[in-house]
Amino acid sequence: MTKFEYAPAPESTSIVDLKSEYGLFINGKFVAPKGGKTFVTINPANEKILAKVAYASNSDVDKAVIAATEAFKKTWSRTSPSERGKYLYRIARILQERAREFAVLETMDNGKPIRETRDIDIPLAAAHFFYHAGWADKLEFAGVGSNPKPHGVVGQIIPWNFPLLMLAWKVAPALATGNTVVLKPAETTPLTALLFAEVCQQAGLPAGVLNIVTGDGATGAYLVNHPGIQKIAFTGSTQVGKGIARAISGTSKALTLELGGKGANIIYDDAAIDEAVEGIISGIFFNQGHVCCAGSRLLVQESVLDEVTEKLKRRMSLIRVGDPLDKNTDLGAINSKAQLEKIHELANSGDSEGAQRWSPECELPGAGFWFKPTIFSGVAQSHRIAREEIFGPVLSILTFRTPQEAIEKANNTPFGLSAGIWTDKGSKILWTAQRLKAGVIWANTFNKFDPASPFGGYKESGWGREGGRHGLAAYVKVAK
Ligand code: NAI
Ligand code: MG
Repeated sequence: MTKFEYAPAPESTSIVDLKSEYGLFINGKFVAPKGGKTFVTINPANEKILAKVAYASNSDVDKAVIAATEAFKKTWSRTSPSERGKYLYRIARILQERAREFAVLETMDNGKPIRETRDIDIPLAAAHFFYHAGWADKLEFAGVGSNPKPHGVVGQIIPWNFPLLMLAWKVAPALATGNTVVLKPAETTPLTALLFAEVCQQAGLPAGVLNIVTGDGATGAYLVNHPGIQKIAFTGSTQVGKGIARAISGTSKALTLELGGKGANIIYDDAAIDEAVEGIISGIFFNQGHVCCAGSRLLVQESVLDEVTEKLKRRMSLIRVGDPLDKNTDLGAINSKAQLEKIHELANSGDSEGAQRWSPECELPGAGFWFKPTIFSGVAQSHRIAREEIFGPVLSILTFRTPQEAIEKANNTPFGLSAGIWTDKGSKILWTAQRLKAGVIWANTFNKFDPASPFGGYKESGWGREGGRHGLAAYVKVAK
């Protein structure tokens, strides 16, 4: 049979007005960092430098906190809730208007496929602003207590896997509830946050309500320890999250943490196997597996293991790996060299501990950071690849015989963020979901997100929830 090849279908980058250098966004303006220190952000699909970005010194962070404090006292706390809502609506609509620009820039800076930034990251970011715009003047009815009040200045630190979306998860509820913000984007993906600062200018958001300080872990740590901050919201590694919890214990700062995961995706033998295979694919290969709630541990009932594995391999050979700007690409670049090394190190431990690695034939581009979609079979609970977060396109396959064994294996982890259940029986979904220690459980689907649905984890996956009414609770204090 003739093999049909896909013709290249690259998205143009001409819509993006990439500047050679970006300043910090403090008090409504872009400003140069004190001391003039900068760092570069690259496109991980070709390792080319995209732009120089300001590195915020401690005194720059001080300035941002002062701007946020002044804005809280003088403008934002005096802005009526319905007016606050209008700003959020405006931001949401501008995000929609400029969606293509954001999608292309996010793909360039992060390496994720344009299909995902276009259809998931950017529409969901806008949806978070729409959703929270609606809550701004209805907080008393949100079930978070009577007369809810903002904390004041919120420090927010976000990772690189969903740069604009994580910004939206944090900034939208903070502003809707009347807080002002100092946000630190991740060092490898600061550009959409800086474009978002332009959106805030365009929306006429009062100066100082949102401030953006670009930098690295030291910048984040300084922000965490800043006495002018009343609440910290962090998404990132469990290790850094634990450090933040230690750093603020004994202070009056409020804290939410959204950390790592090792989600179990459970396939019962009565599941619709073709659909389950699609769910396995989106569970682990969506966003190159750089997903805290990825279904990175597949638990398959033994009687259907061969069928699931065979169908999964066939489906994996159709995954197109390559240029993230190509509209046909399924799997883009790994976000950084450091992350690629981490994935290699953990995958190599899978080999040396005795699991069997398999990847489809695929050609990887020469420049940039790439990892083939990979599965490991014959994985034991004790293997590192069954216990540690790989945060890459690598799936560990384990088996179970009885539902009880599935639950025990699924819960046998220090994490507790997500899980998936695939079965034909509604009663089995409920039985399983009640026993899983995971904050988010999907049934006969995976990796579905909605601003109205709270997201967060148990155990080492974090504290608190983001999204929905539960997420609002983290941004208000209630009079005792
Ligand atoms: P990370 O936790 O170091 O970085 C996340 C954010 O925290 C970045 O903005 C970073 O600049 C900032 N940060 C780093 N150290 C800090 C500190 N001491 N105080 C305050 N802020 C600090 O994560 P990294 O190194 O990028 O990734 C390492 C691993 O973490 C990944 O392989 C993955 O397993 C996990 N991770 C989980 C994420 C999630 O969505 N839960 C997101 C990113 C990473
Ligand atoms: Mg980058």
